[in-house]
Amino acid sequence: MFKIQSMKFLNENIFQMVVEAPMVARACLPGQFVIVRSNAEAERIPLTICDYDREKGTVTIVVQTIGAGTIIMSKMKAGDELADFVGPLGQPSDLVTDDIEEVKKKKIVFVAGGLGTAPVYPQVKWLKEHGVGADVIIGAKNKDILIMEEEFKGVAENLYITTDDGSYGRTGMVTKCLEDLVTAEGKQYDHCVSIGPMIMMKFVCQLTEKLGIHTVVSMNPIMVDGTGMCGACRCSVEGKTKFACVDGPEFDGHKVNWDEAMRRSGMYRDQEAKAKEGI
Ligand SMILES: Cc1cc2nc3c(=O)[nH]c(=O)nc-3n(C[C@H](O)[C@H](O)[C@H](O)COP(=O)(O)OP(=O)(O)OC[C@H]3O[C@@H](n4cnc5c(N)ncnc54)[C@H](O)[C@@H]3O)c2cc1C
Ligand code: FES
Repeated sequence: MFKIQSMKFLNENIFQMVVEAPMVARACLPGQFVIVRSNAEAERIPLTICDYDREKGTVTIVVQTIGAGTIIMSKMKAGDELADFVGPLGQPSDLVTDDIEEVKKKKIVFVAGGLGTAPVYPQVKWLKEHGVGADVIIGAKNKDILIMEEEFKGVAENLYITTDDGSYGRTGMVTKCLEDLVTAEGKQYDHCVSIGPMIMMKFVCQLTEKLGIHTVVSMNPIMVDGTGMCGACRCSVEGKTKFACVDGPEFDGHKVNWDEAMRRSGMYRDQEAKAKEGI
């Protein structure tokens, strides 16, 4: 069992849990994820590791309540225990495994949308701790659902916030902000990491292809076992089948078949709606 050390809501639908999981905390790196079950009957939920403290043996996850599984998790409190907290799973981000001297030569921009803001944090924090500066663009529909602004102020070289409705920061989507930075404000990037809803990552990739910026995305397809056995998370990258749970979750975004990935992620909509009605 894995004790919840703290639980807090960052906005109406997104909560942050710090979980006692010393083995995961000891081994994990930015870019990896865990699979969580709140109780023995609950479904398995893949969640990105958003922070970790090796000394305290804790791992932080940030979760959006969307369907039955995450709603059940959202009702848990500090002191409760999760039945499973399996990980670290998947490959760490290339930025933390590549030769650090080569990484230092790159001009890096992170483009995060909505909940994707949380998984970007450990990567930017790790880079800062290793002497690499990175710009960060965070996009949210409006000011009320923006998360982790203060945390990012401490780790980003430059932080750009943009809201779709203009209620805070710049106005418009993350793609507009990135395009403005590069075409009108003299910014140059050669490496982009984009994490957020699939549709956002698809449009970021279309833009960065035009701008000539290599782009890595973190895929979040339906996952079941998380160990490469069931095939649920398969996606096509450069025409080849990849399993996001073991080959990813990060891939070259210019090589991902986005239409197929988006079609597959909606495959169980009817069953998910029924499960939500049942709680
Ligand atoms: C590698 C990875 C990292 C992720 N990181 C985070 C994170 O840090 N925070 C977060 O809130 N969410 C994250 N997700 C998405 C999260 O797993 C789903 O939102 C969650 O499983 C939904 O479960 P549910 O029962 O609440 O909703 P459901 O009603 O079951 O599903 C709602 C939607 O969630 C997605 N989903 C459902 N089941 C799965 C599944 N087994 N695997 C993947 N997606 C699913 C589908 O798009 C589905 O339409 C991640 C997914 C992956 C694959
Ligand atoms: S989740 Fe089963 S192969 Fe990836």
